[in-house]
Amino acid sequence: MQFLVTADPTNVRHVFTSNFANYPKGPEFEEIFDILGGGIFTADGESWRRQRAKAQLLMSGAPFRAFVSRYNRDKVGSALLPLLAHFAGTGEAFDLQDVFLRLTFDTTTTMVFGVDPGCLSVGLPEVPFARAMDDAMHVLLLRHVIPMTWWKLARRLGIGWERTMATAWRTIDQFVADTIARRRAEKARGGIEGSADLLSSYINDDDEEEGTTTVDAFLRDTTINLMLAGRDTTGSALSWFFYLLKQNPRVVARILQELESVKGTSSAPDGMVAFDPDELGRLPYLHAALCESLRLYPPVPQELKEAAAGDVLPSGHEVRAGDKVLVWVYAMGRMEDVGAAGCGTCRRTGSCPSTRGPAPASARTWRSCSSRPRRPPWCGTWRWRRCPGTSWSPSCPSYST
Ligand code: HEM
Repeated sequence: MQFLVTADPTNVRHVFTSNFANYPKGPEFEEIFDILGGGIFTADGESWRRQRAKAQLLMSGAPFRAFVSRYNRDKVGSALLPLLAHFAGTGEAFDLQDVFLRLTFDTTTTMVFGVDPGCLSVGLPEVPFARAMDDAMHVLLLRHVIPMTWWKLARRLGIGWERTMATAWRTIDQFVADTIARRRAEKARGGIEGSADLLSSYINDDDEEEGTTTVDAFLRDTTINLMLAGRDTTGSALSWFFYLLKQNPRVVARILQELESVKGTSSAPDGMVAFDPDELGRLPYLHAALCESLRLYPPVPQELKEAAAGDVLPSGHEVRAGDKVLVWVYAMGRMEDVGAAGCGTCRRTGSCPSTRGPAPASARTWRSCSSRPRRPPWCGTWRWRRCPGTSWSPSCPSYST
């Protein structure tokens, strides 16, 4: 078995688009991520296609988007700002990444299950479900570096980190089972049509099969997959973004200047401001700075595929059935050639918030930056050249198009 690592955009396009059917995630991936069951992250083929279509349908719907938007705004105003004010008042040092991960745990759990676990509050409480998710993620990471025979033996014997995994798994399953049962009971009592969280939407959509174990197992796998998809990605994106802001006061000044234009319509509890997500759509510099941060520190830095049949990559490298292909997103975002290909027509998400700033044509598309190369604010060595015609965009269903 060969292990190929690539950051070549033509190979990436080949693996993810032109010859997608030949590059499933593969059985080993499914074994490592056993806790995810048959959910979207481990699924391949027809099962993946159906799950993806359903997730996209529910997540792009107006009720869900309005719910997420309203909840996030309220959460910032009622939990994040008071907690930051508390730390500012006491002068206590705190871990900003922990705060962001607590924030995104609450927001993702609410988005997926319609339940706010309250991780983000003064005193930083330990919530069993959150702890279990953290433990499970940690063990999933270890399984990538420990030889498979070792961790499988540990799992069979119930020792070491695999024991932690088994405990975490039970806690997670209990939380999910209780929440599904409660939601079904609510539905029986009077309906949950008004609830826009994803679990309620799936239950509402599955009327004819309601109550069968298949559906409960599907709901369990789906919700756990969505938790994994939404929480750490957003928490990591926020952490890196603020890390970069700390190093780039000039960018902070530009963002604050841009935010001045929407300050008037926002409320200000304790002298701090929480913005409505709708207002933030009109802030091209902030948007570009976030994209730039995602380029430099992508929350999903690599993706693993396994060739189903022999093939030749556009770079000329031969792939045999069973070979692994690791797409190194992190490296790709830092390759000058890739940046050059993405700018010009600027259809790449990580576009450059240059001094004058390009005009966003839509949430994911950037119009020409003019013929003059520009520099992103925190990448001194990055050079941008005109090179129209290439596009690359992430395919996470939570992105709006
Ligand atoms: C900064 C935040 C996020 C980033 C950077 C991100 C990035 C990604 C990436 C790179 C993929 C893999 C795409 C592929 O293999 O084609 C992915 C998949 C996915 N994401 Fe996100 N994501 C984010 C937030 C979210 C949120 C909030 C949700 C919703 C709960 C979500 C749901 C999903 C799902 C369901 C998939 C699986 C798609 C599939 O296999 O087809 N993501 N995401």
